[in-house]
Amino acid sequence: MRQATVYIDSQALQYNLNRVKQLAPNAKVVSMVKANAYGHGVKDCLAALSATDAFGVACLQEALEIRELGFNQPITLIEGVFSLDEMSIVTAQNIEVVVHHQAQVDWLLEHKADYIAKGLKVWVKLNSGMNRLGFKIAEIKAVINRLKAEGLTCVLAMHFANADADHPLNDEQIRQFLEIKNDCAPLMASCCNSAAIYKYPELHFDYVRPGIMLYGATPFADKSVHDLDLKPVMQFTAEIIALNHIQAGESVGYGSTFVATQAMDLAIVSIGYGDGYPRAFVAPNTVAVNGQLVAVVGRVAMDMIAIDVTSLDVALGTEVELWGKQRLVDDVATANGTIGYELLCRLSNRPERKVI
Ligand SMILES: Cc1ncc(COP(=O)(O)O)c(C=O)c1O
Repeated sequence: MRQATVYIDSQALQYNLNRVKQLAPNAKVVSMVKANAYGHGVKDCLAALSATDAFGVACLQEALEIRELGFNQPITLIEGVFSLDEMSIVTAQNIEVVVHHQAQVDWLLEHKADYIAKGLKVWVKLNSGMNRLGFKIAEIKAVINRLKAEGLTCVLAMHFANADADHPLNDEQIRQFLEIKNDCAPLMASCCNSAAIYKYPELHFDYVRPGIMLYGATPFADKSVHDLDLKPVMQFTAEIIALNHIQAGESVGYGSTFVATQAMDLAIVSIGYGDGYPRAFVAPNTVAVNGQLVAVVGRVAMDMIAIDVTSLDVALGTEVELWGKQRLVDDVATANGTIGYELLCRLSNRPERKVI
């Protein structure tokens, strides 16, 4: 049996959800479980997140998966529906929609009676400068006033382009958001993702929408999960399947990119890009073995990597942590020139999954 395993730590997930609640005690929590719970596996995460007030997903299929798994919390479709025929399904399944363009408003109004009867809220998205989804400031008031006049309960929604950084656009986004919130009062509001939950306690309002922090990875380039008091939820491991001793001048792996400068012990680990382990590193990378960080040498292949285990006590079957509590996914991501979000989301379904 191939030995690559993704462990999901339910207690860490609960701990991180509690961190959100500590940080935002007066807001309801929409736990973002899109993209298969950021690659952690929706079916393996929902029970640990059952104390959440709601879930957030990117499309109807993801919402229906939550219902099929038997979870009845409110769900928000953060990009709304993509066609009129999805409206009858969302209404039947008690799923709330974002509206970010006029066609979505028209589709919603066609289903207004059922939507209101189910007590569903509509999330009206402001495009305050990210320029992906949403109504511009000049048009959104009319949309909100119309929806309110039709009897719908609205939540003003906005997403920061730079919540993880000090960027001049942040102030402008906040200014626009507060202007609409005040002008259309009373109006519920939601604008905080993980980074903004930490950075803007004064902007938590009615709903916060944590994603990456729930999974124990950092949204910030300059703050680790330890700084944020979060616990990594995923531990990604594989086993040593072969041991080699090579001499100075011998090379390792495809392209012979690594050449030993002295005699060394190598371990071959059953992990590769076929499992979702990244290949294109921009800086030296390490894995954790027996609590120690050791270098990955040579290219990552589809099924294997080589690591330097010189003077380590290892054997066939020794477990290697690719990322987890000892080797943080955020640090692997930095060495890979990307962010933890991407590495987590792009795992393949080849590794075995276990909930602990
Ligand atoms: C609208 C919206 N809200 C919240 C989040 C959660 O963001 P994060 O994972 O950075 O907390 C996302 C994620 O992309 C999002 O698109």
